[in-house]
Amino acid sequence: MALAPLCDRPHRVESVLDLVGNTPLVEIRRIRAGLGPRVRIFAKLEGLNPGGSVKDRAALWMVRHGLKEGKLTAGKTIIDSTSGNTGIALALAGAVLGYPVELVMPENVSIERKRVVAAYGAKAIYSSPLEGSDGAIRLCRQILAQDSERYFKPDQYSNPVNPQAHMESTGPEIWRDTQGAVTHLVAGIGTGGTVMGTGRFLKLQDPKVQVVAVEPDDAWHGLEGLKHMGSSIVPAIYHEEELDRKINVATDDAYEMVYRLGSEEGLVVGQSCGAALGGALQVARELDEGVIVVIFPDFGDRYLSTSLWVGWRGWYEQDRARV
Ligand SMILES: Cc1ncc(COP(=O)(O)O)c(C=O)c1O
Repeated sequence: MALAPLCDRPHRVESVLDLVGNTPLVEIRRIRAGLGPRVRIFAKLEGLNPGGSVKDRAALWMVRHGLKEGKLTAGKTIIDSTSGNTGIALALAGAVLGYPVELVMPENVSIERKRVVAAYGAKAIYSSPLEGSDGAIRLCRQILAQDSERYFKPDQYSNPVNPQAHMESTGPEIWRDTQGAVTHLVAGIGTGGTVMGTGRFLKLQDPKVQVVAVEPDDAWHGLEGLKHMGSSIVPAIYHEEELDRKINVATDDAYEMVYRLGSEEGLVVGQSCGAALGGALQVARELDEGVIVVIFPDFGDRYLSTSLWVGWRGWYEQDRARV
C-alpha cells in the first residue's frame, strides 16, 4: 500500500483547542516477529493531542455540546470522575474556555497527572485509592447530589457525545490516512468511547473492518486508563455486541511491550499502548494480509514515577542509592 503524507495538522491556530485531533499514524516497523510481509501495523499517536491524550477529543466534544445545549452556562463548574487523562483534557478545555474545573480521581493516580491538572488551574478531589475508578465515580455522584445546580458533568461513561467525538474525528482520520485500506481497528477499553465511536465510523465505510477491543486480563491490573469489564461498573456507552472481538492482555505483557516500543521503535508510551499493541500483534499473527490501526492513547512521560518504570532495570534502587 503506497501512502500519501499522513499528517495535515495546521501550522497556525487561534486556540490550542484547534490542535485537538489530526494525529498521525506511524508504522510499527521492528516489533514484527512472526508477521507476514503483507501485514502492516500503524499506531495512531494520540499523545500528540495538546492535552497529551486521546481524551482531548471526547472532553472537547462534550464541553462544546454542553455549551450548545445550554447545560454549561456562566457561573457553572465542570466536574467529572476521571482516572487522569479525561481530567487533564477537561482542565485544558476549562482553562481555554474560562470555566472552573473540579476533578474526582483516585488518590493514587500518578504525581505527574496530579501536577498537570493543577497546572491547568483545576481542582482535584481525591477518592479512595482502594476503590479505583469506580470509587471516583461514586464520590462524584455524591458531590453532585449535594449541589447539582452548581455543576456541569460531562459524564464520559454515559454521554453519547464521547463516542460521537471519535465517530466524527478519529474514525474519519483513520479512513483518510489509510486511504480506506484499514482492515482492523484495535483499541483499549476505558469508557469504551474510542473503540465504539471509531469502530462505528469505520464499519459504516466498510462493514468488513474488524473492531477489536483490548482489556486487562484481571481486576487487579496495572494498566492505567483501561477497565476490566467483568469487575467494573459497565459504562452505558459501551456496547460489547458491536465488537468483533475482545482480547485480554496481562499487565506484565503490556509493560514488556512498552519497554520494547521505547527502545525498538522510539516510542515511549503509556501502558495502555503496550496493551493495545499486544492485542494488535495477536490479531496480526493470524493474518496473511491486513492493515491494522492500533490506538496509542498517550505518551509515557506521565508514568515515569509509576509501577510501569519503577523497578525496571533496577531504576528504583539506583535512585535510592543516589539520595
Ligand atoms: C491511557 C488511556 N488509555 C486508554 C483509554 C481508553 O479510552 P476510552 O475511554 O475512549 O475507552 C483511556 C481513557 O481514559 C486512557 O486514559
